[in-house]
Amino acid sequence: MRPSTFVAGLAAVAAPALAQNMSICDKYTTALLKENTGANQLTLLTLLVNTVVIGNYTTPNMNAVPGILAKGNYMGTEVNLLPYFNGGLASSNRGGASGVAINFLDDGGAAPLMKNLPSTGTSSNQYKLMTHLYQYFGALLGCSATGFPSYAGFGSQAAVHRFMDLSAAEVGYFIQQVALAASSFGVSQDDIAVVGKALNTIFNVRCAPPTVVIPAQGAQLQSICQDETCLLAPMATCAAYPATMKPAKANDTMAAGGAANSTKTGAPAATSSKPAAFSGAAVKIGAGAAGLLAAAVLAL
Ligand code: HEM
Ligand SMILES: *[C@@H]1O[C@H](CO)[C@@H](O)[C@H](O)[C@H]1NC(C)=O
Ligand SMILES: *[C@@H]1O[C@H](CO)[C@@H](O)[C@H](O)[C@H]1NC(C)=O
Ligand SMILES: *[C@@H]1O[C@H](CO)[C@@H](O)[C@H](O)[C@H]1NC(C)=O
Ligand SMILES: *[C@@H]1O[C@H](CO)[C@@H](O)[C@H](O)[C@H]1NC(C)=O
Repeated sequence: MRPSTFVAGLAAVAAPALAQNMSICDKYTTALLKENTGANQLTLLTLLVNTVVIGNYTTPNMNAVPGILAKGNYMGTEVNLLPYFNGGLASSNRGGASGVAINFLDDGGAAPLMKNLPSTGTSSNQYKLMTHLYQYFGALLGCSATGFPSYAGFGSQAAVHRFMDLSAAEVGYFIQQVALAASSFGVSQDDIAVVGKALNTIFNVRCAPPTVVIPAQGAQLQSICQDETCLLAPMATCAAYPATMKPAKANDTMAAGGAANSTKTGAPAATSSKPAAFSGAAVKIGAGAAGLLAAAVLAL
């Protein structure tokens, strides 16, 4: 479907007839796309995540979104996440003792995203990352209609992001883009606050104990924020997390910020699809993301 067809339904968000116990995914799939089917939930998450990545591309919209690939300023700190995605930094975890450079914009870059697709083909780094992000953020928002795909990526986001050594400003910028993208589609500020709080609590902290995000994957280390600017999580279990260091530049041109729509493969292929896991004697905490979001939505 064309983005414009879908956004025409924006006004429906204000309709009061939505069940109070609906997840955020159910609520906005119903409001924007009418039928709460797995296919429509996937369309909603595709629109949302694509907008988070490349910035707003659908019209009309409620506000501009720069997107995570654009340089930005987060509360006074310059942020440039593109080199983590274009192979400029050796920051991906493929099982070794240090990070490797991978180009995640290797299958059309921004062009297919603007057509509501994850990538041009289906066997690229870009396809894998984008589809995993649809599935993961869908699970976080409570997308559970039949046909919505289960998350097929790695369970521990701490392991996935291990070699990026992200700062509070970098993670904060990412979460801000999620909020801006949601708001651009008419998601209410209350709902955005719920999601933002969950993302900041689970991921934008250092050393959090294992937490359930995807129930089928159990409790996993999820802290993505790693450097000294990061807030220490309550019940921090830093011994469970490996030491960090800033990723090495793999390509000076790309590390400085190459084109977001590059189709060139400037980085070596992955040697393994699994990030190196790490474990520690950390305690398991009860309330996972799904619980957090569900409870907060019920409280609205
Ligand atoms: C709220 C914060 C975030 C969440 C929930 C999140 C979630 C995810 C998920 C689910 C994946 C896919 C993992 C897989 O395929 O197994 C992923 C991959 C990735 N994320 Fe994040 N992310 C967050 C923040 C960030 C930030 C701030 C960056 C900064 C550059 C980032 C960069 C990446 C990259 C480069 C990958 C690909 C990693 C790889 O396949 O090696 N993420 N993220
Ligand atoms: C909401 O609650 C009603 C009544 O208990 C139930 O029939 C419905 O399936 C629930 N909807 C969701 C999305 O949980
Ligand atoms: C993004 O949204 C802003 C605000 O609605 C608009 O001015 C701008 O043209 C949009 N950009 C694109 C590429 O659609
Ligand atoms: C760095 O990336 C640029 C742009 O993709 C490419 O032209 C160049 O060959 C790369 N350099 C190395 C050393 O890989
Ligand atoms: C996309 O790539 C083409 C070819 O390399 C380039 O001419 C164009 O400026 C790029 N567009 C953006 C938005 O980066």
